[in-house]
Amino acid sequence: MLAPETGDNMTLEISNVCKDFDSFVALKDINLTVGEHEFVCLLGPSGCGKTTLLRIIAGLLPLSSGSLSFAGKDLSHVPARERGFGIVFQSYSLFPNMTAAQNIGYGLRIRRESAARIETRTQELLNLIQLSHLAQRYPWQLSGGQQQRVALARALAVDPKLILLDEPLSALDARVRNEMRVEIREVQRRLKIPTIMVTHDQEEALMLADRIVCMNNGGIEQVGSPQALYLHPQTRFVADFVGISNLLSTAWVRAHLPHLLESRPAGDDDALEVCVRPENILVLPEVDGDAVITAITFLGNLSRLRVDWHDRMFIVEAPRATALQTGSRVRLQLDAQFCSWVRR
Ligand SMILES: Nc1ncnc2c1ncn2[C@@H]1O[C@H](COP(=O)(O)OP(=O)(O)OP(=O)(O)O)[C@@H](O)[C@H]1O
Ligand SMILES: [Mg+2]
Repeated sequence: MLAPETGDNMTLEISNVCKDFDSFVALKDINLTVGEHEFVCLLGPSGCGKTTLLRIIAGLLPLSSGSLSFAGKDLSHVPARERGFGIVFQSYSLFPNMTAAQNIGYGLRIRRESAARIETRTQELLNLIQLSHLAQRYPWQLSGGQQQRVALARALAVDPKLILLDEPLSALDARVRNEMRVEIREVQRRLKIPTIMVTHDQEEALMLADRIVCMNNGGIEQVGSPQALYLHPQTRFVADFVGISNLLSTAWVRAHLPHLLESRPAGDDDALEVCVRPENILVLPEVDGDAVITAITFLGNLSRLRVDWHDRMFIVEAPRATALQTGSRVRLQLDAQFCSWVRR
């Protein structure tokens, strides 16, 4: 059993990890440190390697090269069951022939803990997930959200050193998913266990993570706080994948918004673009404005506008814009401080 001494820094270090499946490169040169109490989300499109990375961390899949360590100890030769990590998979795979309580106590029974200890711990966890009243139900008698909470409790039962969650909420409807997000976050904050959660839902990542690891094609595009990824994306992929973005070529910026060029980093024109978020563009109604609104979508608290400006379509969000109509002439204003230069 991997049992770091008290006081050890419970940090996960992933260094230069690569994974090939025959000739297919699933992960290339992954470097990441997950700190002691951190909640990290692996975010990226389908097939980008999120589950592969999680399975390697769990010890369910061998890596092709690179190394992994936890609390300063090399994990290469530590089998999955001895890593002491709690895992919740994409489909909440509860044991169908066991009640909620038996599912939660499973890991402790495997470890041959005493019946009294198993009973106490199971009760504690049932309280934590607020399902004490359903302890004797079988999985088929529980809703999706309840099953997911039992799966989480089962992973927590063995006092994991690290929690690994693979899209644990994807099977749930929007409302339950939202409640579960809040719950997972609260449990993690309370227990202070480092957690890595896979998701392809950017909203989920923005809401939950201390840091987001944005992945693409088996590599890491950018790592940072939700604010950093949203406000300062470094690549076109991140700008596009996290939130809505308007991306402007350097040539277009040079022709129409030259004041943005001041903050332009060194590099090829073709390799750089400006990203500006819809809420950071100011729309000023002006009868002789050089832009025109081509569509307005009502979103409740605000309106999303499509605006044509110098042969480009912009998406702009404005406080509910009663005075503006499709066909209205406007002027758009972009402030350099709200624009980021990204690599293509
Ligand atoms: N055992 C395997 N053999 C060959 N290729 C595999 C294997 N497992 C995964 N892959 C490939 O590796 C890539 C990454 O897969 P992975 O399951 O990590 O993606 P993911 O990011 O979790 O996607 P999703 O969001 O759809 O779950 C995919 O192209 C997949 O087809
Ligand atoms: Mg996956």
